[in-house]
Amino acid sequence: MDTSQTRQLFEENFSVTPAHFAFAPGRIEFIGNHTDYNGGLVMGAAVTEGVTVAISLRADAFIHLVSEIGDSVQIPLGNYTPLSGAASWTNYPIGVTKVMSELGMAMSTGYNLAVTSTLPVGAGMSSSAAFELATAKALAALYGFETDTAGFARIGRKAENEFVGMPCGILDQGVSAFGRADHLVKIDCATEHFATEPMPGGAHFWIFNSNKKHALVDSAYADRHRECHEALAGLQADYPDATTLSQISQSQLEASTSKLDDRLYRRAAHIIGENDRVRAVQAALLNGDLAAVGAALSASHESSRYNFENSIPELDTLVDLLKLQPRVYGARLTGGGFGGAVMALTAPEFGQAQANIIAAAFEAQHGLEPSIFHTRAGDGARLL
Ligand code: GLA
Repeated sequence: MDTSQTRQLFEENFSVTPAHFAFAPGRIEFIGNHTDYNGGLVMGAAVTEGVTVAISLRADAFIHLVSEIGDSVQIPLGNYTPLSGAASWTNYPIGVTKVMSELGMAMSTGYNLAVTSTLPVGAGMSSSAAFELATAKALAALYGFETDTAGFARIGRKAENEFVGMPCGILDQGVSAFGRADHLVKIDCATEHFATEPMPGGAHFWIFNSNKKHALVDSAYADRHRECHEALAGLQADYPDATTLSQISQSQLEASTSKLDDRLYRRAAHIIGENDRVRAVQAALLNGDLAAVGAALSASHESSRYNFENSIPELDTLVDLLKLQPRVYGARLTGGGFGGAVMALTAPEFGQAQANIIAAAFEAQHGLEPSIFHTRAGDGARLL
């Protein structure tokens, strides 16, 4: 892992040598859309790109944070309130600092932190979770804090939920923490059980970032979160023991349609369908049946489009174009939706030439140049 850029940013700003470097990867959501905060199943992959932080202790009681993308920020130790505008990037490390302090991490002096990233911005590959995990690893090394891999993932999620204010599940932080080269990470979010499974040989990931973002992504995500809970409340009239949508089966949902209006029915159908598709993908992976994996990925996108309404026309175009390619097994939006990127699972023969054809057709239709990104499954968060 090349730390030269992070080192340079750090040394230019702080005139000392970093004590530690930590790296955490971004992620691809493979299958299992919006299931995480519904107690369901999800599979993702850490990518080889991510966020690197450099850190050192200060002699005073201040935290100094620098990045290539926003304002430098200095805050007194213990004075943790979310910032906005060009300083809002600091909410990730400060949120993590606050959570770890509450978990007992003793800090008698502050720290310097510099951050750099190799993740495409706004592509929905979770640079925020990567930043949280890299910060948590670096702080743990600096202040002698210990926890296990799941503990690091939970710290990141807690910072995101309680400090940044995003009601996300454990997917992004879990995959960034548990990633493994050439493996998928599978999470049972009901039990927070994390496992890795080998990626099928010869399968490749291509990411097409539409470069289009819904203006209200965060509030749209929060709306879906609320609608899932409303759907659950409706279904609990028939299934009082269910504490999450993931405990309700497709046939139970069909038997209880009278308990939901059309919109809430479709939200529930998406979550329940996604859990079934994660199971189908797992079985297909065991059989090495990439065509069946691809069919489930494409079905997931259709469900996003019609049931969960978290796609946008630009993502639909990318998926439709990709599905026409014989070397593409399947394609779907990856992550929260409402903009961002599409992920395609492809055969090795799919290359830059095929990707360029899709980009040109997309641009002709939407007047936007998509960013293309060929990546593979990489290792999880670590101290360098
Ligand atoms: C975002 C959230 C995740 C997950 C996905 C949708 O990436 O951060 O927790 O809910 O959306 O599956």
